[in-house]
Amino acid sequence: MTDRIIVLDGHALNPGDLDWSPFTGLGSLELHERTAEADVVARAGGASCVLLNKTPMSRATLARLPALRYIGVLATGYNVVDLQAAREQGITVTNIPTYGTDSVAQHAAAMMLEFARGLTVHERAVREGEWTRNPDWCFARRPMFELNGRTLALIGLGRIGLAFGRIAASMGMRLVAHDPYFPSRDALGALDIAPVSLEDAFAQGDVISLHCPLTADNRHLVNRERLLRMKRTALIINTSRGPLIDQDALAAALHEGLIGGASLDVLDSEPPPAGNPLIGAPNCIVTPHIAWYAIEARKRLMQIAADNLAAFQRGAPVNTVKPAG
Ligand code: NAI
Repeated sequence: MTDRIIVLDGHALNPGDLDWSPFTGLGSLELHERTAEADVVARAGGASCVLLNKTPMSRATLARLPALRYIGVLATGYNVVDLQAAREQGITVTNIPTYGTDSVAQHAAAMMLEFARGLTVHERAVREGEWTRNPDWCFARRPMFELNGRTLALIGLGRIGLAFGRIAASMGMRLVAHDPYFPSRDALGALDIAPVSLEDAFAQGDVISLHCPLTADNRHLVNRERLLRMKRTALIINTSRGPLIDQDALAAALHEGLIGGASLDVLDSEPPPAGNPLIGAPNCIVTPHIAWYAIEARKRLMQIAADNLAAFQRGAPVNTVKPAG
């Protein structure tokens, strides 16, 4: 029997610049750009397969979808699905463990270079006519510096942390990292990274970049105490998850000039409500959770999602996720 495959919120992955052809032959695909939680049952009722990115799949919703056999999460994080309820109903849940390592690492590198060079500040000034009015042939609106010889402190040295470390090393930066599972010498290859405590990472970094997952233990890992440990000139980068940082403490530190700046791709809740204290804070750059968004990364994600579904249909599922414990 042909599977009916419902994509509940396909717009984030494919706003129109990709196609869904990797799913050709796997069933009949019904595409929805977005789906409100209240409409999930109406759209997915009777379907065997659902693909979703951030649409919640609660126990109550799952109970009303008795025909469902498969949920393919179009992302790495799968906290939107009640895994225990899915298991009780015999539903296989899969995710995309990795697809955008280079995309995220390069976004972090772009944030670091922006801090060193101030492209956006200068571009805006030129656009507003400052160069045209300037008496000299050049002008700078803020200090600029080279990154070689400065220290990058990585919090989390997994796939993305390592990829960013390699970019930074190629620019002559010194690398330190904190990770409870620090990689072996073999995994690091030629990369020279010194293991440090969390407190030393904050004290030593000219740039501190978060690349660990959000867990029950590390919410607000970046708090006022650790911000006070940072050099007054240092940058904090977060491309991981918003709640790793106490956003009120960071906003205060930026307003008080306690640190050099912050570059954030993730916030506490997304999209952020009006009045988020970090949007518009001094020396703070915020991008809308797009570190993963390179076209290559999204194509890879689409292909892996289709491969996951095909493997499930063959009776040999891969990339399955299960409730903890
Ligand atoms: P990974 O699993 O390869 O590496 C994570 C590393 O963090 C591991 O080595 C782990 O031992 C370490 N770690 C765990 N808890 C830690 C802690 N409390 N302190 C320091 N290190 C800790 O994950 P990967 O692929 O490098 O991704 C990292 C994070 O990037 C993801 O968890 C996700 O939150 C974020 N991400 C963000 C995206 C974006 O578009 N902004 C896209 C993809 C991932």
